[in-house]
Parts: sequence; structure tokens; C-alpha cells
Amino acid sequence: MDLMEKLEETKAYIESKLGGRKPVIGLVLGSGLGDMADELEDSVIIDYHEIPHFPVSTVPGHKGRLVIGKLEGKMVLCMQGRFHFYEGYSMEEVVYPIRTMKILGIRSLFLTNAAGCVNTGWKPGDLMLISDHIKLIADNPLRGRNPEGLGERFFDMTNAYDKKLLSTAEKAADNKGISVRKGVYMLFTGPSFETAAEVRFARIAGADAVGMSTVPEAIAASHMRMHTLGISCLTNMAAGILDQPLNHEEVLETGERVKTTFSLLVREIVRIWPEELL
Ligand code: HPA
Repeated sequence: MDLMEKLEETKAYIESKLGGRKPVIGLVLGSGLGDMADELEDSVIIDYHEIPHFPVSTVPGHKGRLVIGKLEGKMVLCMQGRFHFYEGYSMEEVVYPIRTMKILGIRSLFLTNAAGCVNTGWKPGDLMLISDHIKLIADNPLRGRNPEGLGERFFDMTNAYDKKLLSTAEKAADNKGISVRKGVYMLFTGPSFETAAEVRFARIAGADAVGMSTVPEAIAASHMRMHTLGISCLTNMAAGILDQPLNHEEVLETGERVKTTFSLLVREIVRIWPEELL
């Protein structure tokens, strides 16, 4: 069965559960930020393991389900838990849910993640709008035969993080009196955190944050000409900046500490999301 046929089966299954709901924004919730899905109104929940052709999440702190419901008056399809390359999935598997969103008719994508802070002028708990990314590793979700039904073989990445959505996010932050950063996210494969030397390298290369997700999804979304916004919750100073080892608990704790602010910001962004991008 080819990719398009699989996607059609996935779509048919999800649509059979939606009771006529038509999601317009796909929202991917990163480590420690998953609670937001519980705020959706009139929601339908679909576990990943019941969806035909979906991979299954394995990380502690990640639930693995779709929650579809209303947020600030807009129908949102939320991924509570995502798939990571470091779990052993191929890049193609990592982006399968994003392709599913597109096939369901969703044109706008809102990616969130937890990331390490490389910029020494910033601090843990800061929220960073992703202006661009650097994909250090060689793999790419579009490597291989191009799925022509989804997009072109060669495609532009200069607006991968939609400029209009970046200003929407800045406006939303301003409306709510939340301060946000804007910067470049660099992908590492994980699951090992970076070395101190890798973090120095990332800084010299122009990165403000390092993380293990988001980039494959943003690439697949660009391929399909979706409008993407990305926000990183900078949960910890990246390796080697402070004189202390990194651990996953710190990532989850910071996520917990900022979740109210984060949720306020996400809601306001969704509320004022430009109609023409939906
Ligand atoms: N590095 C990579 N990924 C991360 C980090 C980090 O320091 N913190 C949260 N996700």
C-alpha cells in the first residue's frame, strides 16, 4: 500500500470519530506541555494505537493521543504526544501525523516543544518563537520518492516558519503582556543531550536553542505548503553553560512552571490566528 492510500485509510478512520467536527489548526504539544489538550471543549479523544498506520508514542511524560475540540472558538486537532526520531521511528513515520492533518483539510500547524537554551542572555522558562531552524543531521523526511500528491520534489524553506504567524504570535504575546524571545532552533537527534562542545558549536552556528523534535514536522509541513508556527519552551540552559548536569526532570519541571503562561499565549494566538491562513 502506498503512502497516499495509507493516509486515506487514516483519514477515513479519524473522520468516522469526529462527528462532523472540522479541525482548522493542528497543534503539537511538546514535553511537559501536553496538559493543554485537556482545555479543549466538546472534545473527541482518539488514542494513537487505534488509528490505522499511526506510530505509537513511547516516552514517559508523553501521552499518545489526538484530542480534537474547540479552543478559543476554533476547532483544533491536538497531538498530545509526538513521535521522535530518537525513539527509532524513521523521519517518514515522525511526520505521518502532520500529513494526516493535511489530508484532513488542515492548513495551519502550531508546533511546540521543550528545548535547551543556547543563548546565554536568556533563561530557563523563556518562550521562544522559532524564526528559523538548522537541521544538522543528514536525514530528511522527504528523502526518497517524492509523494507527488502532497507537494513538489524541491520546495522552498524560506517561509517555513510563516512570517505572518510570527507577527501574530508577537501580537498575541503583547496583548497578554507575555514576553517572548525569537530565535533559531537547531535539531540534534538525541536521546543523549548535547555535549558542551556541541552547544558551543550550535551558538557559533547561529542557534539560540537546541532540541530533538519539530524540524521534521516543519519540513513536511512546508512541503505541503502548510502555514507553520513554532514555539519552544526553553526548559533548561543547554549543556555546559551552567556547572551542572542536565536531566529530563528539569525539562518537565520547567514545563510545569510555565504551563499557565504558555497556555495563555497559545490560546491568544489561536484566538487571533489570521482567518486567511485557516
Ligand atoms: N537539549 C535537547 N533537547 C532538549 C533539551 C536540551 O537541552 N531540553 C529539552 N529538550
